[in-house]
Amino acid sequence: MIEGKKDFLTVNDFSKNALMGLLELAMKMKKDRKKFRHSLDDKKLGMIFTKSSTRTRVSFEAGIYEMGGMGIFLSSNDIQIGRGETIADTARVLSRYLDGIMIRTFSHNEVKELAKYAGIPVINGLTDLLHPCQAMADMQTVIERKGRVEGLKVAFIGDGNNVAHSLALLCSKLGVNFSIASPEGYDMNPAIIEKIKSNMAVSGAKFVTTRDVKTAAEGADVLTTDVWASMGQEKEAEARRKAFAGYSIDSKLAALAKPDYLFLHCLPAHRGEEVSAEVIDGPRSVIFDEAENRLHAQKAIMHELMR
Ligand code: CP
Ligand code: NVA
Repeated sequence: MIEGKKDFLTVNDFSKNALMGLLELAMKMKKDRKKFRHSLDDKKLGMIFTKSSTRTRVSFEAGIYEMGGMGIFLSSNDIQIGRGETIADTARVLSRYLDGIMIRTFSHNEVKELAKYAGIPVINGLTDLLHPCQAMADMQTVIERKGRVEGLKVAFIGDGNNVAHSLALLCSKLGVNFSIASPEGYDMNPAIIEKIKSNMAVSGAKFVTTRDVKTAAEGADVLTTDVWASMGQEKEAEARRKAFAGYSIDSKLAALAKPDYLFLHCLPAHRGEEVSAEVIDGPRSVIFDEAENRLHAQKAIMHELMR
């Protein structure tokens, strides 16, 4: 349990203290990989995927193994969910075998439904709406490099998508200023924006949405972006390529950020679209630390929920 919650579905369910506690634990786990090797002895994590994954699948499976447990990969093509078994029945059955479930799927409501009927912790490994584990790894990466997060400015250029939502929510909780530049029609979800604003009223951070990439990038400590077409939006890819023209992070835009800015990208990336090769493969890019930190951040989450 974290603050009385059995699940990790969105960072917005937790206080700043709880989130910082998880990030501190993640960093401790990274420093001493052996220390936690029996924390989840014999615990089993089911990992349901209805979408592709490299990082999420491997980091969860490696992570639970490092703590003494095991991961069971459950592709929706192979389990009965793919043939119409209900989420509620699946949740109740899996709860008889396992100690936790990680799920990556399309609908966020399905994840909530799974958590409602599961007697065991459910961890959100990405939905169309949110990607909370990614946001945790991102902020861990920022803390490692900057020594703090409060008062920094994160600038997101591009689609107001799942990755943007969770990162903005986490920033708003932790007191990090967040600016996003998106083209018309690709803004963040209004209900998420309301949550960000109400969190920022408490944390004192500043939230800016703009169409102008320069306004967003100006003075940023962190520049970040994501693919223009997310999983499930493959048919829109061409239209999106047109809509997002100009919403790229290249050296010219990066020159407006602080000289010691960090470049983050959840990956996979499309060089030449949302980011230039020069920036993503350049000296300010910390994308592989960020990818590694998925492992540590998720180990901290599993450690707190599944013990
Ligand atoms: N960033 C991320 O979630 O990567 P995968 O889709 O490879 O899991
Ligand atoms: N926004 C992307 C993130 C992938 C990790 C997607 O949902 O496909």
